Amino acid sequence: IEETYIMVKPDGVQRGLVGEIISRFEKKGFKLTGLKLFQCPKELAEEHYKDLKSKSFFPKLIDYITSGPVVCMAWEGVGVVASARKLIGVTNPLQAEPGTIRGDLAVQTGRNVVHGSDSPENGKREIALWFKEGEVCQWTPAQAPWLRE
Ligand code: GTP
Ligand code: MG
Repeated sequence: IEETYIMVKPDGVQRGLVGEIISRFEKKGFKLTGLKLFQCPKELAEEHYKDLKSKSFFPKLIDYITSGPVVCMAWEGVGVVASARKLIGVTNPLQAEPGTIRGDLAVQTGRNVVHGSDSPENGKREIALWFKEGEVCQWTPAQAPWLRE
């Protein structure tokens, strides 16, 4: 089954947006399978964003992600990776559509409040990177038959 790694970044935590952000995925109908508040070590931030290592903003990005606790989440569902990216909105919050998390709640790329995996492969990779064995739960939501025919 498809899964994605969603993370409320330190600005989202500091600004009190954790509940609002979780709520958007919950209301959409995806299944939460992992959740924790976590102070990210530098090495983990560098591994998570390793594809951006050559970018000029990389050191700033690592400082940002390690500047305070983040909320790590695993979400599961058919089509969850692409749908979560749509719910989040494009990278630059000024260009993100109203109705998206970044479009509604942020103003700058360097403070864009939330991360979402960009492919099912990266969803699996990132969940394995951020969660330990036993931290991800399998369960059946009572609403399942009311979400999908
Ligand atoms: P994530 O969900 O966090 O991976 O964002 P994304 O997939 O929309 O964008 P991308 O993976 O290209 O970049 C990762 C993160 O790096 C962004 O979300 C920003 O926080 C940061 N970032 C990207 N481009 C810039 C930039 O030009 N300047 C700064 N300061 N940060 C950037
Ligand atoms: Mg990305």
